[in-house]
Amino acid sequence: MDMPCTRRDVLKTAMVSAGVAALATTAAAQTPNIAGFEETDPGKVKGPQWQPVSDRRIKVGIAGYGVCKFGGQFGFQNHPNVEVVAATDLLPDRCAALAKVTGAKRTYASCEEMFEKDRDIEAVYVATDAPSHAALCIAGLKRGLHVASAVPAIFGDSQLELADELLAAVKATGLTYAMFETSAYRESCYAMWQIYKAGGFGKLIYAEGEYHHYSPPNKPIDSYKGWRIGLPPQWYPTHGNAFYTCVSGGWFPTVSCLGMRSIDPLRQPENNAYGNPFGTEVALFSTSEGGMARMIKSADIPGAHGEKGRVYGQKGSYEERYQGLVDVAKIPQAKPPLPPGVPAGGHGGSHGYLTDDFITAILLKRPPRVDVACGLNTTVSGIYAHTSAMKDGETLRIPQFVL
Ligand SMILES: NC(=O)c1ccc[n+]([C@@H]2O[C@H](COP(=O)([O-])OP(=O)(O)OC[C@H]3O[C@@H](n4cnc5c(N)ncnc54)[C@H](O)[C@@H]3O)[C@@H](O)[C@H]2O)c1
Repeated sequence: MDMPCTRRDVLKTAMVSAGVAALATTAAAQTPNIAGFEETDPGKVKGPQWQPVSDRRIKVGIAGYGVCKFGGQFGFQNHPNVEVVAATDLLPDRCAALAKVTGAKRTYASCEEMFEKDRDIEAVYVATDAPSHAALCIAGLKRGLHVASAVPAIFGDSQLELADELLAAVKATGLTYAMFETSAYRESCYAMWQIYKAGGFGKLIYAEGEYHHYSPPNKPIDSYKGWRIGLPPQWYPTHGNAFYTCVSGGWFPTVSCLGMRSIDPLRQPENNAYGNPFGTEVALFSTSEGGMARMIKSADIPGAHGEKGRVYGQKGSYEERYQGLVDVAKIPQAKPPLPPGVPAGGHGGSHGYLTDDFITAILLKRPPRVDVACGLNTTVSGIYAHTSAMKDGETLRIPQFVL
């Protein structure tokens, strides 16, 4: 699902010549060579500056510095309301590198050990491998920590019970849980969300989302214990699904999904741990507003790349921009300023925003942009989509998660 980036150097050169080298330094210098990371928007934001809501500094622990180096990529170490006090990765060299890049003074051999021994941390960012998110997030909440999780919220059908446990843990503790869905802070998705809230679309009749990430045969990107090898496409559904769930706040009651058999030897069912034969899955969901959504996840198509989407509503639509019946000129569609020193970061300039949103949610005791219900509705629907594809497109009902 990942391939080496070919556009990053070109973009980097363009940014330097535009005189924004200083802004780019923190994010780009640490950016791994993986598609998706190149889309750094160094905060093209004009207008009023960011206003602090508190002078408190939340003590954060960060877990995971794998191939994507995600633990160091989200600007926690740059945020004025954060002190990164602890870092962990199971591999000692990665743990040391994460501590160095975040300035964390304490390190732990595992996230579990950090939860047990570090009595100082108030919040944790779980940026470990996808199969480990749910259990670590539940443990973090039970330990009394606010939790941010890299996507997906849970991993595969064997973890469906953890979805209920995660929701229950958030409800029982009242702590903040945020899923760091990067599409939610892509420029277009953010604008769609603002317009949706202001009534510019009415109900959404139809939405489309896709996450294309070509992975050539026999060349999966590295992953902890090989979780990316032969991955069922729709078990990693969030970047496309967000173009419905993170725009409308809605969910998907049913799904019918089809898959196409892959030519990648690793995507033959006998050659991966998941028994998965597919490299592409196309899901047709019904939506909670009574409409439809078509969501693609593919790793099999050379030249297809990106995390994109469009929405079509009763009063207007958004492909490249809003077109419709409502005057949206006064609706703020651009992302607001970030705190000084926090880079917008990769994946459409989303990283810094997700961190700022999580921290602000804790400080103001308000829901984050992608709360536990939205995170689970965005994730679990894909797990059902893959099951449907394995049954030749049988229509399946999907549980709804409500906080
Ligand atoms: N756009 C996006 O939102 C996006 C893009 C890329 C990756 N991701 C997500 O980010 C996460 C990290 O990706 P990656 O490619 O770096 O993963 P990876 O598999 O390469 O690395 C995971 C790291 O977590 C560490 N780890 C596992 N269990 C741990 C524990 N209990 N305590 C401490 N450390 C532990 C491992 O040692 C490893 O270094 C993944 O969940 C992935 O799904 C999201």
